Amino acid sequence: MAAFVISIAALKRNTALLRETADAAGCKIVLALKGFACWKAFPHFRDDLDGCCASGLWEALLARDYFGKHVVTYSPGYQEEEIRQLCEFTHHLDFNSLSQWFRFREMVMAHPRFKSGELQCGLRINPQCSTGSTPLYDPCVPGSRLGITADQLESADLTGLSGLHFHTLCEQNSDDLEKTLAAVDEKFGLLLHSPQFTYLNMGGGHWITKPFYDRERLIRLVREAREKYDVEVWLEPGEAAAIHTGVLRATVIDVFESAGHRLAILDISATGHMPDVLEMPYRPEVFLAGESSKFQAPGSNNDRPAVTFEGETYVPASETGDHLYRLGCPTCLAGDVIGDYAFPRPLETGDVLIFDDMAHYTMVKTTTFNGVPHPAIVLQHEDGRLETIREFDYADFRDRLS
Ligand SMILES: Cc1ncc(COP(=O)(O)O)c(C=O)c1O
Repeated sequence: MAAFVISIAALKRNTALLRETADAAGCKIVLALKGFACWKAFPHFRDDLDGCCASGLWEALLARDYFGKHVVTYSPGYQEEEIRQLCEFTHHLDFNSLSQWFRFREMVMAHPRFKSGELQCGLRINPQCSTGSTPLYDPCVPGSRLGITADQLESADLTGLSGLHFHTLCEQNSDDLEKTLAAVDEKFGLLLHSPQFTYLNMGGGHWITKPFYDRERLIRLVREAREKYDVEVWLEPGEAAAIHTGVLRATVIDVFESAGHRLAILDISATGHMPDVLEMPYRPEVFLAGESSKFQAPGSNNDRPAVTFEGETYVPASETGDHLYRLGCPTCLAGDVIGDYAFPRPLETGDVLIFDDMAHYTMVKTTTFNGVPHPAIVLQHEDGRLETIREFDYADFRDRLS
């Protein structure tokens, strides 16, 4: 059976590192639910984080109901009913445009939670400083709809606001944060120095839990910002919390040849279950389960094995070799292909493949396109025990459609 298998031990390793970083920097770190929202895992690492970052009402409700602590909400576009509900429980409410803030500020500022200081409002700013390499993930491209540029704020009435929020990074190190902070200072420094602004949210995209990430620099930058502007600093990573914490287990359901290519059809779909493989795009690592010769656990490229199944061994696939297969999926989309992988022996129907690093930006994005069954969700506990927390059936597919 296809399944996302999430390792509690690996999650805890990541969140412990995030806690350590937050403590050293003196900032708050919240989990971006857009990246990982498997709420049944929350109790295992809740103590390490300060709350959740939500992309709108539904994620905010999930944060309130299953995580607790702080709820930090930002959406590129709110509707009135969302604001009405969010005012009841979110702690930060960050707006993407001045028009949204002007539309809702009267309602928000009249709320008792705003008056008591329990609810604070901020603006997402666009420092117009591109440091990443993938335009799809760059909110600073000219004409970006994400965030307010400095020129728009020049003579605006900012009464009622106390926070600024930027999110410009994606899988990046702290040197890029340093460049971004220089741009933020140049364009928005005056605002940040004013006592009206009491929090600065530095968004996500910080690859904090990667072995090569320069945490010392991050800690220095956060401390400097806190001191310079006298603000509370918030970070909202998604990927850094869930990276290398889970795999997607799939089964080969057909093997055949076409025009000189060997093809294997799996019981999972790239577009349906791991869309970043097509969108980013990127090439996940694949392992063939059940071979006893060479042992390498998924995740070991990061020195942190993620999921190990008792008694199972895994052989990594490589780019070239005798037994090269194009791994494809059971949907009508011609491009629903994961990539070409070489295995140590010919693939057979029934072989089990493990795709590494499939905890983040997967389960939060899945669909039942073409009616392909959704993989189950399994937690691997610290003692190795596997607990299936969700299985999907025809009724799940049917009921989503009407
Ligand atoms: C506003 C905002 N905050 C946080 C994140 C989380 O980013 P990441 O998962 O790369 O850390 C994102 C991701 O797109 C985002 O848009």
